[in-house]
This record gives sequence, C-alpha cells and structure tokens, in this order.
Amino acid sequence: MRFTDEYLDELAARNDIADVVGSYVRLTKKSGSNLFGLCPFHSEKTPSFSVSPDKQIYHCFGCGKGGGVISFIREIEGLEFNEAVEFLARRAGMPLPQQDEQEEKRASRRQRLLELNKAAARHWYENLISTPGNPGQQYIAKRGIEMKWVKNFGLGYAPDSWSDLCDAMAKKGFTQQELITAGLMKSGKNGGGYDAFRDRLIFPVIDIRGNVIAFSGRIIGDGEPKYLNSPETPVFSKRSNLFAINLAKKSKAGYLILTEGNIDVVSLHQAGFDSAVASLGTSFTDEQARLMKRYADEVVLCYDADSAGRKASDRAIGILQKLDMRVRVLEMQGAKDPDEFIRAHGADAFRNLLEGSAGQVEYRLRVIEGKYDIATEEGRVGYLRESAALLASLPGDVEREVYAGRAAEKAGIGRDALLAEAKRIRKNLIRNGKRQEQQRLRPAELHQPSVREQRYTDVSAAVAEEGLVTLLYADPALCARTDLPGEEDFTSPALYKLYSVLLRREREGASVTPAALSAELEQDEMNLLSSIVNRKQLELSRSEQLLEDYITAMRKRRESRSEVDDLRSYAEKLRNEKNNYNS
Ligand code: UTP
Ligand code: MN
Repeated sequence: MRFTDEYLDELAARNDIADVVGSYVRLTKKSGSNLFGLCPFHSEKTPSFSVSPDKQIYHCFGCGKGGGVISFIREIEGLEFNEAVEFLARRAGMPLPQQDEQEEKRASRRQRLLELNKAAARHWYENLISTPGNPGQQYIAKRGIEMKWVKNFGLGYAPDSWSDLCDAMAKKGFTQQELITAGLMKSGKNGGGYDAFRDRLIFPVIDIRGNVIAFSGRIIGDGEPKYLNSPETPVFSKRSNLFAINLAKKSKAGYLILTEGNIDVVSLHQAGFDSAVASLGTSFTDEQARLMKRYADEVVLCYDADSAGRKASDRAIGILQKLDMRVRVLEMQGAKDPDEFIRAHGADAFRNLLEGSAGQVEYRLRVIEGKYDIATEEGRVGYLRESAALLASLPGDVEREVYAGRAAEKAGIGRDALLAEAKRIRKNLIRNGKRQEQQRLRPAELHQPSVREQRYTDVSAAVAEEGLVTLLYADPALCARTDLPGEEDFTSPALYKLYSVLLRREREGASVTPAALSAELEQDEMNLLSSIVNRKQLELSRSEQLLEDYITAMRKRRESRSEVDDLRSYAEKLRNEKNNYNS
C-alpha cells in the first residue's frame, strides 16, 4: 500500500517519538532538549542512544541506527515499512487510508493464505497429539523429541493419506485454488488434487510476527525427498526466512546459532540452546543474514561436519562479515550434526564446544591445513604460503605470534621463519594500503557511516557533502536556489541520494519530515540521514554563507579530481604515442 505524505505526517504527529521510544527504552534527560537511554539495538552499559523531541528523530552514537518514529518501529519490531505504519496506526487509533481495490484484494488473499496455513498447522498438530501411538508419535519418540517441544514448535503429523488435509480444509471453507497456491495440494489429472505432505513429521515455518508462512515435512522412515518444503508462495520467500526465528528472536544469549537442519534446531532448543535457527534447506543468503542481524551481532555457525558443511560455513562467514557481524565456528567431532552430537554426548558437552568454539582465525587455519598434504614438499609450501598470508592480515603482533606458533608446529618448521614471511607480506600490504590508511587516521574518519556500502571514499569531500545535506534539511528554503551542485559534484553516492531526494521533494512541495522520508528511503539511508542531522550543529543564521562554503569546497574538490584525471589521460596518451612510435 502507498501512503500519502499527509497521512504519514499525521501518523507521526499522533505517535510522538518520545512516547513511542519511551515504551521500549527508559529515557532520561541529560543535556539540552535531547533524551538519552540505553540503545535497544546493540548492547551497551552507558547510554549513547538519543531521542530529539524537537526534530522527532532518534540516533545512536554507538551503532549508528537512527531515523523517525516509523524507522524506530521497523527496527525494533522487525517490520517492513507498511507493517510499521499499520502498527502505529493501530497504536494511535487511526484508521488506515482507503486502499485501492486491487491492493485490497491482494492483501485479503494473503490473509486467507495465512489463515489456511494456520488451520493446516493446527490440523496436523491435532493429528500428532490425539491418537496415541500413531506413526508421528512413534517417530518423535524415536528422535527423542519431548511433548513440550512438539507444542513449542507446533510440530504435526501428516498421515499417509491422499486427502486427509485437503478434506479437512475444504470443510473449513478453503477452496482448491487456495490449497494449491499455499503449496498444500498438488493438482492431479481430471482437475482433482491430492495432499502434498503425506506420512511426514511437519515443522511449521513461523515468521517473526507469528504467522505460519510455510511447512517443512520430514519423511517418516525412509523415502524421497527426505525433507519436503513448501514452494515459494505469496506469503513465503525461502531466501528471506529462517526456521525458528520466531523463537530464537526472544533469546537472551546474545548470539544466534545457525544450523542446517530442522531437527538440529529442535534438539538444540530442547537442550537449552534457545537461539538456534536453520536456513530452510537453501544455501545461506544475504536476506537471512540481515534478518539475523536484527536480533544479534554474533553468529555461531554449526553446520554439518563434512566437506559440504565446511564449504557452506565459508560462504556464510563471508556473508555475515559483510554485515559486520562476529562469527564463530563450532566444530563437532564424532558426530555429523548437532542433533547427533547432543544425543551422543549430552547438552553439557555441547555447551563446552560452544564456549570453546574457535574464532575465525583458528578455523581458517584449520581449513588451510585441510587443503594441503603437509607430508609432501609441495603441500608444505602451499600451506605455509597461505597461512603466512592469513597471519599477515592479523592486526596484532601478539595474535600473529600465537597463531604463527600453531601453524608452524603443524608444518614442522620454525615459528620465526613463518613469522618472517608473514611480516614480509604484511609490509607490502601496509605499503599498498598506506594511502587509505592515511585517510583512515584523519579525525573525520570517526564519522564514517557504519554501513560498509555507505563508507566515504573521500572523507574530506564527504564533510562538505554532509554539510550541504544537513543544511537543506534544516533550511529547506535554500532548495529554491538554481546553482546547487549536481551528481558530478558528489563523491558519496549515499549522500547524493539523500540530497537528491530532499531537493526533489522540496521542489515538488512534498513533505520532508522523517515520517514522509522513511517511505522513500531505506533504513540504512535513514540511519545516515539522522546521524548527520544529529551531529552537525549548524548556525542557521549563517546558512547562506555556509551554503556558499560547502558548494565552493565541493566544486574545488571536483576540479582537482578532474585535473588528476586529465593528467592521467595525458600520461596515457604519451605512453600510447610512444608505443606507436616504437612499433
Ligand atoms: P540433512 O540431510 O542433513 O538432514 O538435511 P538432517 O537435518 O540431519 O535430518 P535428519 O536428522 O536426517 O532428520 C539438512 C536440512 O536440509 C534440508 C532440510 O531443511 C534439512 O533439515 N533438506 C534436506 C531438504 O530441504 N530436502 C532434503 O531432501 C534434505
Ligand atoms: Mn540429522
């Protein structure tokens, strides 16, 4: 649904940010007009989370999150934009705007599918618990799943029947088309249909709002496929959900455990590890990582102890690190997966593994070790070269020495030789990185955006660009000027995006409140906007002069950029001419 600016502004007006945030975070007044509290989005002991009732924005100096009231609800409740608007509308007792007919239809169709899924889950759950000794019950007994966990996960049993579910759902008024769309019925010949899930233990997939969005069914005994999963449906996208996230999101562990299997998750929860989730039989995706990041900054990878599992781990590490999440890798010996491990060795043994689980360095060293045959000369050289490169990338001397000791021992060479090689590689790294390093040490670096994609490549240019954005936000009248910079004057695409949206909205006479902007900007972009708006203290009485200064700075910067380009292409030309001359 699309909301008008007027509606969003009204919504924000009726949901004062201090009240809304105040119902999640204890806020106290510290300085000036801002309120402070402990940030709900990262763990901290001293408050760096601020709310500005004047500007109606919040911003955390620690983790960089920020925005208006809608952004706050999105972030804390884990909702999409539309859902956050609906949430706040309910809170303020405001009716939703009239939807257009098509969207209304679509929304109600989705609603029906969710009801159908819920009814199916209930039906299968009843099947499982009602008749004593049915195959489902026998199976959960065999797998050691207790009744309490059947209930918490809403597990169910789909009997070995072609029509058990379809009949029951038809009785409740669901149509054949709805059953097919939900992936519960397969269409047969002659326009008939039959149950998709048969003779399976059913794991409902429940999203963070508590909706049953899909199912995964494990065959009782042997058969193909071992796990049957719902197809993509209007209410289910496999790549952006995680099994058991509905339970794990409430965990106080501070980290999420990521496994491959549904059964592993159930076993882990039953053994007291309440932050376990699984990635629905797909390889791990960016969307799943983002979903995890809403609830924890650390992930313990607990994939199967085989080569496929290790490969999957490496992939997941890359994805998680891109989002600045900490990753640990848990390695099990003598068991294929966490379920087997816990059954064989018990919960305490698993806790020991968890507490001792290696950080990325140790894990990566072990991966390198696995790649080479150290008994051969060739293998040893490869192993040493690759581990030296890994060691070179470590920032601390002590850390480097410790791991060098371990790696050297494996290959049966002296630690000092390996360390010397690592230092040599490191010197090169540092030399190459020096330019960036120098930039990094400038004080302005302190204000780099926390999201990697938004990081400034030219920090001093970005200072002026930030200034311009803040100025236009604070003093929209300036947007009327015709000599404002264009895209080519910006070095930061993220700041240009904010700038262009502000400018366009001002010129169209649209609203530029946090509420209206959050309909158009992504959460990351809202974070950036509120961070710079919050940070910069502008003297608005001097806004015209400031504007001149920023524009001049940006243009100068651009000219020097193009001079460098000119020089480069001139040098290139000379080189080419020389080559032509030579040949
Ligand atoms: P595994 O084959 O490792 O199964 O698949 P498991 O979790 O150890 O299951 P049990 O212990 O034999 O019951 C791991 C995950 O991969 C997905 C499922 O999500 C499963 O939990 N999978 C597996 C499928 O989607 N389809 C399959 O046919 C097999
Ligand atoms: Mn298993």
